[in-house]
Amino acid sequence: MFHLGMLSFPIQTHNSIGTWKSENYLFDRSFDRPELWIEVAKACEDARFDFLFAADSEGIFAEYQNSRDGTLKGGKFVPAFDQTVVADYILAHTRHLGVVATVSTTASQPYLTARRFASMDHLSRGRIAWNIVTSTHKAGVLGVGLTELPSHDDRYAQADEYVDLCKALWQGWDEGAVVVDKHNDVFIDPTKVHDIHFEGRFYRSYAPLNLHRSPQAGPVLAQAGASKVGIAFAARHAELMFAIQPYREGMKSYHDRVKAAAADAGRDPSSVKVMFAMNAFVGESEAEAREKYDRHRAMITPEGAMVTMSGLLGVDLSTVDPTAPISELQVPGAQGHIEAWSKSGHNTVFDATIGHAAGAGMAFVGTAEQIVEQMHDVMAYVGGDGFVYHPLYLPYDLLEFTGKVVPLLQKSGLTRKDYSGGTLRDNLVAF
Ligand SMILES: Cc1cc2nc3c(=O)[nH]c(=O)nc-3n(C[C@H](O)[C@H](O)[C@H](O)COP(=O)(O)O)c2cc1C
Repeated sequence: MFHLGMLSFPIQTHNSIGTWKSENYLFDRSFDRPELWIEVAKACEDARFDFLFAADSEGIFAEYQNSRDGTLKGGKFVPAFDQTVVADYILAHTRHLGVVATVSTTASQPYLTARRFASMDHLSRGRIAWNIVTSTHKAGVLGVGLTELPSHDDRYAQADEYVDLCKALWQGWDEGAVVVDKHNDVFIDPTKVHDIHFEGRFYRSYAPLNLHRSPQAGPVLAQAGASKVGIAFAARHAELMFAIQPYREGMKSYHDRVKAAAADAGRDPSSVKVMFAMNAFVGESEAEAREKYDRHRAMITPEGAMVTMSGLLGVDLSTVDPTAPISELQVPGAQGHIEAWSKSGHNTVFDATIGHAAGAGMAFVGTAEQIVEQMHDVMAYVGGDGFVYHPLYLPYDLLEFTGKVVPLLQKSGLTRKDYSGGTLRDNLVAF
C-alpha cells in the first residue's frame, strides 16, 4: 500500500506553464474564490488522500532577464496567497485531510513560525505539516529586507538552527500543563512550562511559547531538498520528503539516498516517508490520453518555461547556452533539479526546462486501468512511500483522477479506503 497526497501551487500555473490558457482551466479569475479550495479539499478527502501539499514562495520571480515581467505575464506562482492561511481555511472545512503548508526559513522568524504552526496544529486537531524550504530566488528575500539570497549551504545551516529552535519551543510545555484545577486555583501548572535559552549562530530566543503543547507537538516536518546538504538536513529533521524526479531510476536513487541518510543519522528509515510528484493524463483509450498529453505539451512556451526554471535555480537562463548540459550549471537555488534532470536523458538546459514546465514529477499517460498498473510498477521498482499527485488543470484533472483512478487503486488494495487515525502523523506512519 502507498500514500497519496495532492500537490497544489498557488494558482497552478507554476510548474505547468500555460495551463491557464486552456478551456479546461476553470480557475480563470476564480483562484481567489474560496469555494474552489473547499471543492479541491473535499475531493482530496473523499479520495482519502493523506494531505494536500500547499507549495509557496515569497516574492515574484525576477531572475529571467533580470525582470519580473515574464513572471507576471505568465502568471507564474503569482498571485499567491500565504499558504498557511489557505491551509487554515482548508482545515476548517475538512475533518481528516492533512495540509502541508510551506514557510521559508530564510524569509521568516522562528518564534512566530513555531507559534503559528502550534496554533494550526491545535485548531486542526493535529492535521498540519510544515514544508520547510529555504527560498530559491532573490526576490523571495528582498521583500523581507535582505539584499542577497544567502548561499545554498548557509541557508541550510540557518534552517537547521531554525528548526532546532522551533522544536525546543514546541516541547517547551509538558503534556498536561493546562490543569484547570478550580479547587487549587490553578489554571496552568507553572512547573510544566520550561524556560527557553537558545543562542545560536543565527537565532536567539529567551522565552517559551505562550501556547500549550499541540496534538502532534508541533507540525509534521516535511522537506523537499535533493542536494547532498538538503538530504543531510532532512535526515535530521524530516518525517516526509517530496521529490520531483521525472524518471524511475532517479526516483529509486533519491529514495535510497534519503533512507540511507536517515539510517546514518541514527533514525529508523521507515520514519521518513518519501513521496514523488506525479501528474496524469487519463483517457477512455490510450490514444485519447496520448492526445491530451500532446495538447498539454504544445501549450508550453520556451520563454515561459525559462522564466520559471530561472526562478527555481536562481539564475538567468537567458544568459546560458540552451544546448549545454544542465549538469554544468552552478546554481544558488534548487540544486536537486539539476541532479534530477542530469540523469534523465533530457539533460540539456533547454530539454530539462521544457520537461520541468510540463508538470511536476513523472507523467502517467493512459486509461485509468493502465495508470493504476504504471503507478503500481513504479512504486514496486522504487520502493517509495507514495505519490503526490499534481493536477495540471484544476479542478477537472483532480476530479477525473479521484473519480476514475483512485477507486481502482483502492479496489486493488494499493491505496487506503479510509483514514487510519486522528492526526496526519497517525495516517503517515500507518504503513
Ligand atoms: C515536490 C517539491 C516541492 C517543492 N515546493 C517548494 C515550495 O513550495 N517552495 C519553495 O520555495 N521550494 C519548494 N521546493 C524546493 C525545495 O524545497 C528546495 O528548496 C529545493 O529543492 C532546493 O534544495 P536542494 O538544493 O537541496 O535541492 C520544492 C521542491 C520539490 C521537489
